[in-house]
Amino acid sequence: MNEQIQPGDINAAGHLTIGGCDAVDLAHEYGTPLVVYDTDQIKDQIQRFKQVFENDQVDYEISYASKAFANTAMYQLLAQAGIGADVVSAGEMHVALQAGMPAERLSFHGNNKSYQELVMAVENKVGTIVLDNFHEIDLLADILQQHQAKAQVMLRITPGISAHTHEFIQTGQVDSKFGFDLASGQADEALQRVLANPAMDLLGMHAHIGSQIFELTGFEAAAEKLVDLAADWQQRFDFTSRVINVGGGFGIRYTEVDHPLHPEDFVDAIVKTIQKTTAEKGLPMPAVWIEPGRSIVGPAGYNLYTVGSRKDVPGIESYLAVDGGMGDNIRPALYEADYEAVLANDPRAEITERVRLAGKYCESGDILIQDLPVPATKPGDVVAVLDTGAYGYSMASNYNLNLKPAVVFAAKGQAQVVTRRQTLADLTSLDNNLQ
Ligand SMILES: Cc1ncc(COP(=O)(O)O)c(C=O)c1O
Repeated sequence: MNEQIQPGDINAAGHLTIGGCDAVDLAHEYGTPLVVYDTDQIKDQIQRFKQVFENDQVDYEISYASKAFANTAMYQLLAQAGIGADVVSAGEMHVALQAGMPAERLSFHGNNKSYQELVMAVENKVGTIVLDNFHEIDLLADILQQHQAKAQVMLRITPGISAHTHEFIQTGQVDSKFGFDLASGQADEALQRVLANPAMDLLGMHAHIGSQIFELTGFEAAAEKLVDLAADWQQRFDFTSRVINVGGGFGIRYTEVDHPLHPEDFVDAIVKTIQKTTAEKGLPMPAVWIEPGRSIVGPAGYNLYTVGSRKDVPGIESYLAVDGGMGDNIRPALYEADYEAVLANDPRAEITERVRLAGKYCESGDILIQDLPVPATKPGDVVAVLDTGAYGYSMASNYNLNLKPAVVFAAKGQAQVVTRRQTLADLTSLDNNLQ
């Protein structure tokens, strides 16, 4: 049996359960493809992160990275759990605010925030705007003047640290579209411009060094670099950093080759590094902010599919096709992300072969899992791909005009549709007839 599945995850019918709900029943009731979250698992992970900060007795903010997965219910869950969120678009900001997330708990990110988006952030009193470039400093200065408003801001720094992860999702190295570069003096100039504007209240600095990171060293180095910068800015510009935000990127296990630390170990190491280096430099201990996305929702998510056709290329490969694919999870096609999957209607069945789990989209690259061990399967079986909670549904598309799946929250044996499946009518809802 797949090592991620515990005996307690299987019910009397021999089916996989998610949040205490029978996965096969969920598939039948709500249709497939279906995205299911075990919300207790999400809440537990949030609690674990909180606990690290409480144990270390530091001021903190956990700002969930909405891009990993966001909808109304998710923002409500975050608000109930007492944490904030980072948003990167008018869309994420809108849904978060509509859902009742307190505006002051939102951080607004992005490397090309539009004028309208910045106006929206100012008018809604979004807690922090993370400034990413000089153009944005100018735009925000204009908006604050016109609105006679003030804003709390942070500066996103590119610390020049290249974390060990897939190169397409690295963002901390010098050659990055994000943030102010340290080495060339951009960060110093940004600081001076912001300090010169009394409408901007600079909280501190931010860095995000990449995603799906397994090692402490990158985070420790980034934290140290930000404290060095804080010391430098204190000395040269009399600026005291009240916040150090180290972003997200804490790695999770997708397959047996992944051996991440517990996400909370990363946070503990970051806090200890900041405590040690600020003490050495005689700086006050700032609040520590983190922006976990994947580590909060990834392991809690499951994509359920129904098995359909099969193609055997004798002596070469067997393709087992399911009724979803790159439209509901583009990560395998986009950056060769690996997943594990089990047969939800019989997770304990003896493995008898290896297949390629294919999607139904018109791309040869639409393969969900390249090499999946499976028992004997038949059309109608339900496959559960594991750990799909981050960057799956949030990157879903209507490619081939397939419908986006429903999203279900499951906990303690109760399931609730929190985003309904698209309907065929949705597909024409934005269109006009040709004139
Ligand atoms: C600025 C920022 N913060 C946080 C995150 C979340 O990263 P992860 O989901 O790997 O924790 C990202 C992801 O790209 C990001 O760009």
